[in-house]
Amino acid sequence: MSSKQTGLVLPDTQALVMRDEDSANPVAIEFDHVTKSYKLFKNDRARFMSAFSKNVPYKEVRANDNLSFTIRRGEAVAFLGTNGAGKSTALKIITGVSHPTSGRVCVHGRVSALLELSAGFDGQLSGRENIAFRGQLWGLSAEEIAQLEPRIIDFAELGDYIDQPMRTYSSGMKARLGFAFASSIKPDILVVDEALSVGDRRFAKKCLARVHEIMSDSHVTVLFVTHSSSSAKEFCKRGIVLDRGRNIYDADIKDAIAYYEGIV
Ligand SMILES: Nc1ncnc2c1ncn2[C@@H]1O[C@H](COP(=O)(O)OP(=O)(O)OP(=O)(O)O)[C@@H](O)[C@H]1O
Ligand SMILES: [Mg+2]
Repeated sequence: MSSKQTGLVLPDTQALVMRDEDSANPVAIEFDHVTKSYKLFKNDRARFMSAFSKNVPYKEVRANDNLSFTIRRGEAVAFLGTNGAGKSTALKIITGVSHPTSGRVCVHGRVSALLELSAGFDGQLSGRENIAFRGQLWGLSAEEIAQLEPRIIDFAELGDYIDQPMRTYSSGMKARLGFAFASSIKPDILVVDEALSVGDRRFAKKCLARVHEIMSDSHVTVLFVTHSSSSAKEFCKRGIVLDRGRNIYDADIKDAIAYYEGIV
């Protein structure tokens, strides 16, 4: 794939985010001293006032704190860490949902994310129309969309609702379609937050099987957030342990798990 769709996002900070579709680049993801800070105000009023005055007090939370790592193409890496360690924040920066406050992020290749699955659908359009719309956003041709559509619809199991406006869907139904789409296209980089549970128990099991199927394709670069040591060991060769937003240990998965289990 060419790198012609290079995108450079410069938010109102010193942070630099670079994306391209260069799936031949030996590096898939690079975080270079990335910090993501949130300002915690006492209440909503204080947050509002902060737009007009620099003197409103706040506490700074660093969800990612000077975080650096490089993930090579084809690697499967687990992010380990306690609640609030900064795992989802890093994934959101990779997918573009969130922007870093400072540092440099490079992402080479198309990212598919199994998180925040219900986001980004147009409630006025039917499920089927949303598939086509999302496919276009992905840069797929009409032919490619037509090929994928039955697979996505079949997986989502929405029955007649597939032709109803998505505002009539339950949240579980939206997530099902989101998962079916994200897991049917072939990404260069797959980002999975295992905390994610889609639909009811039976459907969640089916989703997990699909995730495992994609992850066993050695061409796909995988970033996997999990609290389960056995899943991490099964699918990943490398583990990065995060603590208070920092990379505190980065090694072979067995060593990373042993380290993580030693600190919790
Ligand atoms: N929008 C936000 N505003 C304020 N603080 C936030 C926001 N999003 C995340 N945080 C804070 O950033 C830190 C890291 O959160 P993150 O969701 O990345 O953790 P995590 O490692 O994914 O945890 P978990 O295992 O519970 O999913 C937490 O302290 C969290 O409270
Ligand atoms: Mg999380």
